[in-house]
Amino acid sequence: MPPDVDPGCELCSRPPPAGWVLAYRGDEAPGEEGTRETMLTLGNGYLASRGADPEASADGVHYPGTYLAGFHNRLAGPGQPDGTESIVNLPNWLPLTFRPASGEWFAPGRGRRLHEHRMLDLRRGVYLREVLVVDRDRRRTRVRQRRLVSMANPHLAALETIIVAENWSGRLEIRSGIDGGVLNANAPAEAGSCGRHLADVTTGGGDAETIWLTAVTTSSRHQVAVAARTRITHGGGHRRQAAHGPAEVNQVITVDVTPGERIGVEKTVAIFSNRDRAVSEPVTAACEDLGQAGPFDLVLADHVAAWARLWARFRLDVGEQHAWQAPVRVQTFHLLQTLSPHVIDLDAGVPARGLHGEGYHGHIFWDELFVYPYLNLRMPELTRALLEYRHRRLTAARRQAAAAGTAGAQFPWQSGESGRDESPARSRSPVTGQWVDDYTGRQQHVNLAVAYCVWRYWETTGDLSFLAASGVELLIEAARFWAGLATYDPADDRYDIRGVLGPDEYHDGYPGRPGQGLDNCAYINVMVAWVLGRAEEACGILARHPGVRPWREVDPTDEERRRWAHIRRRLRLVFLDDGTLAQFEGYGDLAELDWERYRQRYGDLRLLAPLLQAEGDDANRYKVSKQADVLMLLYLFSAEELADLVRGLGYEFDPARIPATVDYYLSRTSHGSTLSRVAHAWVLARTDRRRSFEMLVTALGTDLADPQHSSTRNGIHLGASAGTLDILQRCYTGLEIRGDLLRLNPQLPDGLAELDCVIRYRNQLISLHVDHERLRISAAPGADQPVPVAVRGRSFPLAPGSTATVELPSPAPTSGTPT
Ligand code: BGC
Repeated sequence: MPPDVDPGCELCSRPPPAGWVLAYRGDEAPGEEGTRETMLTLGNGYLASRGADPEASADGVHYPGTYLAGFHNRLAGPGQPDGTESIVNLPNWLPLTFRPASGEWFAPGRGRRLHEHRMLDLRRGVYLREVLVVDRDRRRTRVRQRRLVSMANPHLAALETIIVAENWSGRLEIRSGIDGGVLNANAPAEAGSCGRHLADVTTGGGDAETIWLTAVTTSSRHQVAVAARTRITHGGGHRRQAAHGPAEVNQVITVDVTPGERIGVEKTVAIFSNRDRAVSEPVTAACEDLGQAGPFDLVLADHVAAWARLWARFRLDVGEQHAWQAPVRVQTFHLLQTLSPHVIDLDAGVPARGLHGEGYHGHIFWDELFVYPYLNLRMPELTRALLEYRHRRLTAARRQAAAAGTAGAQFPWQSGESGRDESPARSRSPVTGQWVDDYTGRQQHVNLAVAYCVWRYWETTGDLSFLAASGVELLIEAARFWAGLATYDPADDRYDIRGVLGPDEYHDGYPGRPGQGLDNCAYINVMVAWVLGRAEEACGILARHPGVRPWREVDPTDEERRRWAHIRRRLRLVFLDDGTLAQFEGYGDLAELDWERYRQRYGDLRLLAPLLQAEGDDANRYKVSKQADVLMLLYLFSAEELADLVRGLGYEFDPARIPATVDYYLSRTSHGSTLSRVAHAWVLARTDRRRSFEMLVTALGTDLADPQHSSTRNGIHLGASAGTLDILQRCYTGLEIRGDLLRLNPQLPDGLAELDCVIRYRNQLISLHVDHERLRISAAPGADQPVPVAVRGRSFPLAPGSTATVELPSPAPTSGTPT
């Protein structure tokens, strides 16, 4: 057996199947503990808890973090009188430790760990841990833990601990508590991200086994209540004693042990807040819920059954033996822990870093653009709920637009609970550590992403009631905003959009004018043309369904419609000398970077802009990008759609130029954002399958590979996770929904022998099995209408309960361009 295998360890001897496991073993680098805690996070969409050890507190290595979705608070800090809204680190429910009488409490750095094994059982949603520790008196104690955050009851979490005194006897003390003295301190490098958000801590007890703690956030005055029941399940008689601290509540339980005896401790916790629906008093709700909660095994059984139902809906199988199977499940697991069906009842958005840490203050950016396509085909109710979260923030977005002197609505680049702009004005350079101006917040394109998401949701679901109630307003207000920004140039009958920022954050202005924005960004202008068209189309659809029309007046005026129609035909695009679509006007005048020289100097160029800045240079001077920008258009639109859009603006578009355009920008991109590889893997899928595959492998490793350099310690990269899954789901199956037709044009990369998944389309469950020779498609039995399907141009209706198999002559017919 390898040295880190302990024959006494149940996880070593009986691990769950390899395709369902994320495991950490032995004495790993302390610097990577934060990343491991993020990856071992458990959550259910409502509540999440980092995978910190129960005996640890925040000490620079460990960081226990507990979060509720959408639960934010504003804290003022030095140089930030107005403060920043952050997701709040809530009272820590985990604390549980032990000591042999007269010994030291088990804690990081205390005793010698002879063996440690931690793993996530992804199928059951359980975090398993086994530790064998010896103290300075040579007492050897084995600790086995199972932890869950219930997917069945979103308010419940539980930790079961089995303690075995292997070679000693005597008194054993167990301390179990709730720590309300926690701070936000997970992302110290970010402006205003550290501090104490909780005040007014009160504590108390219920029955002999139960303690509780409540706290209130300093400015949003949100109340949270945590109740914990600690029960001894194996072992003889025991005594209990309360041990309170200023902002914590504990119980110390004493039992007598003999060598080899198992002492079982079950800590079950209920968490409620005053933001919950159907709750009047959080602490009463928490104590009542806890009173109803059964023993660990029953809570576990409900939880595992809930996960089984989720996995049935979200499975994406690439072969049990395939190296990708476990990473695919890890990404799915963390996505579902952030955006589970419980989110449908909440007022919460899509946090860029999941509910796994405090990176970016828990803020919401435009990353939903990468997330919804996956959810639309799995659980579209989730997308709808998340888009309604945006709709509820239209008032704040209208204010933001008005403040910029424009009509319509502009969602801020970063926002929290209120929908206000939370983008930082300064941030710390990851290279020099110095504070520098941060202009990223001037990105106004979030409303384009939201509008895009509205339309794709509508196309996938045909959900007219959503389009009428929220969707159309989101489209119209985005259209109004951009039409307001567009200025008319009669000289050549063109509209310009000036002083804006596209997704590529390396360019926020022209050389020597940082932060002042750019003119006629291709991404923005094409998206604006498309959104203006969809706003018009949505109005047309609703006009044909007068019964669902919104009761509020949202329609644009005739004058607006005329102007929109003109703008969407005459927005300006700029081209480089060789006909390539330019990222923005003036891009062609920028200098070329000597990539080779910089690669030699720095190796990894993911931080290219900060590296240049540290040299006194400025990325604005060069033809470089942080992430896909022009190429986002090929990620979001098929070649056909893009051709129609560009031609609709009165320009030539030759699809044969696409591969050269991809090469051009790709060779000038540093992939400084994890979203970049997702977009590029997609764009390359039909033109350069090898490179697409390589990009996908890297994207799949986001948060998993390179723990030393990653920012995963501050949370997962949710957009990259969902985007990666979506590439497997839509891109490699060639899945497209257009004109009420489910189109499939599978083309698996060479490294993938098969792909098996289930999607939901127009309320029907459809299973897909693809390999290099054939596609098998089946619809679950039911009373629905047959679904019109087209596989590589062959159309047929797929009736409920039926299966069709289509042979796939190789290679797939393509025009040499992405589809
Ligand atoms: C990317 C943005 C993204 C943000 C949050 C940044 O690094 O450039 O596009 O929205 O991270 O994920």
